[in-house]
Amino acid sequence: MLLPLARSFSDSLNQILALRPAYPRDARMIQAWRRDSRTSTTLRLFDRSTKEIARELSAATAIDLYLGHAAKFTWIILRGEMPAGWIAVSLDSVDPQRAELSYATSRRHEGQGIMTQALTALFRQLLSDSHVRELAARCFTWNTRSIRVLEKLGFARDGEDSLPGACGPERVIRYGLTLATDTERDSKGAIWR
Ligand SMILES: CC(C)(COP(=O)(O)OP(=O)(O)OC[C@H]1O[C@@H](n2cnc3c(N)ncnc32)[C@H](O)[C@@H]1OP(=O)(O)O)[C@@H](O)C(=O)NCCC(=O)NCCS
Repeated sequence: MLLPLARSFSDSLNQILALRPAYPRDARMIQAWRRDSRTSTTLRLFDRSTKEIARELSAATAIDLYLGHAAKFTWIILRGEMPAGWIAVSLDSVDPQRAELSYATSRRHEGQGIMTQALTALFRQLLSDSHVRELAARCFTWNTRSIRVLEKLGFARDGEDSLPGACGPERVIRYGLTLATDTERDSKGAIWR
């Protein structure tokens, strides 16, 4: 996937963070992240071949995001030169204003404010380069770090579902966030800056 813009910002340690689109050549790294037990338990991801991941990454272009074509778009978070995590946004197949979010910080970069800042930058990018205005995210009730990230960003709880787990049903919280530009917020009293 190609996006013309990469947004730079600084983390709490004053290192340069940047968001760049994921390319097919990132497939092996993304596969390793997906296979990390921490990620596979929190996101319940199926194991996928690097070919499948690369195909998905090459199928979603910047123009698809701009036009609101249903696809999954992935960004890599860079801390300096080092990949520090990823964010994926899956556009709804019916309504291009709706999308579902998933994300993970790599282990060595966790707990340093990176995901909160990366998502903040991504939301600005979505506001300027896409039609996405309603973001959904799902999170197990025990995933306190992710709950903290979502609630810091202003996500509101929409309800809970139950999913089968190895030791019985597990509760998943459904979260939602409305993105709004300054102009939209002024006209509708909308929520996110
Ligand atoms: C959830 C995840 C993305 C958070 O990334 P991160 O870069 O560590 O996030 P941040 O540092 O921006 O914020 C983490 C917050 O959780 C808090 N936190 C850390 N450990 C915690 C714990 N055990 N209990 C409660 N809060 C905790 C941090 O203090 C911080 O909040 P603060 O800024 O108010 O202090 C990361 O832990 C991860 O990749 N987990 C596995 C994948 C995952 O869960 N993805 C989301 C699926 S819904």
